Amino acid sequence: MCGITGFTGEVRALPILLRGLESLEYRGYDSAGVTLVSDKGLVTEKQKGRLADLEASLDLDAHSQTTGIGHTRWATHGIPSQLNSHPHTNEAETISIVHNGIIENYQTLKEELIKKGYIFHSQTDSETIVHLIDYYYQGDMMEAIGKTVKKLEGSYAICVVTTEHPDEVYVAKSQSPMIVGMADDGTYCASDIPAILEYTKDVIILEDGQMAKLTPHSVQILDFECNPLKVEFTHIPYDMTAAQKGGYDTFMLKEIYEQPEAIRETLRGRVEHGKIVLPQLDSIDMSDIQYVHLVACGTAYHACLYAQSLIQQWLDRIVTCVPASEFRYGYHHVDEKTLCIFVTQSGETADTLAALKMCKEKKGKTIAISNVLGSSISRIADETLYTCAGPEIAVASTKAFTTQLVLLTLVVLKLAEKMNKAPKDEDVILADLMRMPKIVEEMLALDGTMKKYADFLQDQHDAYFIGRQMDYISVQEGALKLKEISYVHADAYYAGELKHGSIALIEENTVVIALATQPEVAAKTISNIEETIARGANVILITTQNQEAPGFKNIIRIPDVHPVLANIPVTVLTQLFAYYGAVLKGRDVDKPRNLAKSVTVE
Ligand code: F6R
Repeated sequence: MCGITGFTGEVRALPILLRGLESLEYRGYDSAGVTLVSDKGLVTEKQKGRLADLEASLDLDAHSQTTGIGHTRWATHGIPSQLNSHPHTNEAETISIVHNGIIENYQTLKEELIKKGYIFHSQTDSETIVHLIDYYYQGDMMEAIGKTVKKLEGSYAICVVTTEHPDEVYVAKSQSPMIVGMADDGTYCASDIPAILEYTKDVIILEDGQMAKLTPHSVQILDFECNPLKVEFTHIPYDMTAAQKGGYDTFMLKEIYEQPEAIRETLRGRVEHGKIVLPQLDSIDMSDIQYVHLVACGTAYHACLYAQSLIQQWLDRIVTCVPASEFRYGYHHVDEKTLCIFVTQSGETADTLAALKMCKEKKGKTIAISNVLGSSISRIADETLYTCAGPEIAVASTKAFTTQLVLLTLVVLKLAEKMNKAPKDEDVILADLMRMPKIVEEMLALDGTMKKYADFLQDQHDAYFIGRQMDYISVQEGALKLKEISYVHADAYYAGELKHGSIALIEENTVVIALATQPEVAAKTISNIEETIARGANVILITTQNQEAPGFKNIIRIPDVHPVLANIPVTVLTQLFAYYGAVLKGRDVDKPRNLAKSVTVE
């Protein structure tokens, strides 16, 4: 969630550092800072607030230094403030560092350092790092960093500069991402790819336990013992335009509209002549598997609920679906007969990563579904299948979610095939999946209708989403999306549960979004909706082509599609509803308050 940029080269560092930080703004932050270095000393500037506040405090033309580091912080230890912002410097102002992650043993380290006479200026865990480096530094910065990181427990990506070697930048990492790239004018490092994509597409993705020394024309990778390592560059297939808004008002709307293409890409090569091709599942012998766990956070957890429903319908196995933050501390049985599936857009979510590591320790078989190539989770899981949604910049997950549903459908079908349990109408499901990009396009054509319905939220502070069976998964995702970007309180209820209490909340003009796409229960949901209409609710009904729903004013019918796939078109509609609800309320849609794109701390 914090962002790091670093540069050393032949041109001015400041504009490069700021531009890199701008491209990481989508990750969410509460303060920003830079250190520029030359043989005359360090210049450190940091500000609470937006990058624009930092820029306003800097005389941009005055700084000709060609080496520096930058940071955007999302507070974990210590409130958002100027003092707690990074970079942090040592007392002599000869070393400056930025840090992503959390140092779990920082209190102990801090006490030891204070006893040695070090003075702390911030409440952060990160400040211990700069004092430790200062303590260990005896002329060789890599050695000092190597000694420092060996004392740290927790997660970190660190970037360091010093006045002793003003044209060098040093990095080290464990459990927080860090990449390095080279171009003609200098050498770059960053916590995430968009920050350096403008300069190079060939990067080194550092592994845990690696450090790097950057000079204007070289990169040296070392382990923590300072032994040199040979590492390969990875070519990044994205281009920068994929990370720009491309004519839409927001990244979120752009990403909602990218769903047909994202789904097409996710299906590409995975269904050939009506057969599912997922070689990553070849090694899984379902006769060895007794339990299946599905683990993720937030929206990705809703994708797990969807997969759980499919597994319950098709596979004869005990399946649980648990948020990663609960799973990692729970008493869930995991052994070599357990298949654990982790779903994550970023591949970096701390709770999901911890749950994955726990399952590996207990010898469970692990599969990750991720959207980010080379992400931590994808590197650790036994097998990773990628959704091909492309970079998702808006904080609210949209195209990552629908591609997760698509890929999970294929995964569960494939596992069912292995057990000779594939549903009889598997061919219909596959044909409908292949039609899904077109179906989603039809949903996008209802943009204006969803915008009109979102106007119902004008004077409302609450909204209720109701549905049964698989629709209950879509209502949970619909409610989360509306909450997180519009700040309208939204709840998801089983339609049949309303009358057991929650119906007391329904009054004149209360907004209710009702989903009735599951043939066996749609009529029942519709009669539950009538109970809410009788109490004055403003109901928007999303149902199928043939479902009888006489007398409904606000009704949307999704195209004919196999019922297990109805969650996908329905989700596109609820995404648009949430989006226009947020626009109506004047929210910062791409960067909702208090949220970060990738939650890399617990
Ligand atoms: C909601 C949202 C979050 C993420 C969650 C997991 O729109 O984006 O709930 O789904 O933080 O993130 P990943 O999928 O990166 O593990």
